[in-house]
Amino acid sequence: MKTLIKNGTVVTAGETFKSDLLIEEGVITSMAQGMSEEGADEVIDAAGLLVMPGGIDPHTHLDMPFGGTSSSDDFFTGHKAAAFGGTTCHIDFAIQQKGKTMVDAIQEWKKKAVGKAAVDYGFHVALTDPVDSSIEEIPELLKEGVSSLKIFMAYKGAFQVDDTTFLKALKKSAEHGLTTMVHAENGDAIALLTEELLAEGKNAMGYHNVAHSAAIEAEATARAVSFVEMTNAPLYIVHIACEDGLEAVRKGRAKGLPVMGETCVQYTHITDDWIDTEDFEGAKYICSPPPKGEDDKAAVWKALRDGTVQTVATDHCPFWFEGGKDGRIPGKELGKESWVKVPNGVPGIEDRFPVMWHLGVNSGKISPNRFVEVTSTNAAKIFGMYPQKGSVSVGAHADLVLFDPEMEHTISAETHHMNVDYNCYEGMTVKGWPKQVMVRGKTLVKDGEWLGEEGYGAFVSRDADNEIL
Ligand code: URP
Ligand code: ZN
Ligand code: ZN
Repeated sequence: MKTLIKNGTVVTAGETFKSDLLIEEGVITSMAQGMSEEGADEVIDAAGLLVMPGGIDPHTHLDMPFGGTSSSDDFFTGHKAAAFGGTTCHIDFAIQQKGKTMVDAIQEWKKKAVGKAAVDYGFHVALTDPVDSSIEEIPELLKEGVSSLKIFMAYKGAFQVDDTTFLKALKKSAEHGLTTMVHAENGDAIALLTEELLAEGKNAMGYHNVAHSAAIEAEATARAVSFVEMTNAPLYIVHIACEDGLEAVRKGRAKGLPVMGETCVQYTHITDDWIDTEDFEGAKYICSPPPKGEDDKAAVWKALRDGTVQTVATDHCPFWFEGGKDGRIPGKELGKESWVKVPNGVPGIEDRFPVMWHLGVNSGKISPNRFVEVTSTNAAKIFGMYPQKGSVSVGAHADLVLFDPEMEHTISAETHHMNVDYNCYEGMTVKGWPKQVMVRGKTLVKDGEWLGEEGYGAFVSRDADNEIL
């Protein structure tokens, strides 16, 4: 199958230029202006459109048991939503269960995806059982095509591991060319504050912000950066939401340490007052770390501009607002009585690409090329998928978004494709929308119509020794 995309403007992380693209068997085989249509099975006119690498979301939680229920998107609903929003690949977290191995977790997550996946996907694995055998197992992860390992400094009694385990994992991962990732919040402090708040009868949604303050995030982030200084092991800090955490990363990078940062689309828009409501509405935005104040939001944008963070993810972890009825699994309503029981997480896999374009590029905060870098290319480089993914170049997978920068779309839970009954960007009219989305040359979405297939998405196996940006 030969597809020719004509007359488009290619936008990559590095440049913007006019070029036609020839796609053969899912791969870009030629790029030039004025290519002949002869021999093409399909010709797409991309005049007026931007041709960008499909979004890569490096941080998602599909079909994940968490908070007394499960995230509500599986590998089909989540992928369909991703594609509608211009995301063609993502990396999900396989979570180790205590008493089981990390390889077990990866195999379990592979089973969740096979037959359902519609876009391409990879896995990170979370080390949650702090036993020596978990550390010893780290090199084995590469045989499963997994080259990144996550540590939780939070969720005491569930996923959190101690600093000794964190340091051992950092060292072992670096020795074998894996990248360590970390959720940086001080889980011991959260547990203590939570106990105290609950003892005082403080159950309103806003107390989530008190138990997960900026100081709690910043302390853990600074500690994680210090661990990089002690080990010189590469570390990618996930979902950074506060100014002081970003400052810790900035300082570490200024010293030349191999520390990288990720923020999430919700932290570029939502603030802590969205959670601190008198009614239950605030539960929609409860996630960890929670969004912080206006200054932190501004700091997130600054960090996106100055390169302190390399990626913008979603941490997509959707829960029904009104779950547990009409065939829905339980969701946020589990926490009606107290913030502490609200499952942590927000949806966003469908929104990230257009919302970041709208809030970032349309406002002049970031350039179109920086947009491509933080929504696609950098994740591909850091996690070992580049240049197959995250690139519009000869030899790359034709994972493409034909993006109409003039098209307006009002985001709403009424029309989105995520399997969840609310949207964090409800009512936001974005300018710029994915008109056509392709994965390995196959069109999954065109003009709002679903043309994808359950089972088409492929697992992306990743090797060791990836880029440190
Ligand atoms: O609230 C969040 N972030 N839920 C997903 C799990 C995690 O911490 O990344
Ligand atoms: Zn996390
Ligand atoms: Zn997460």
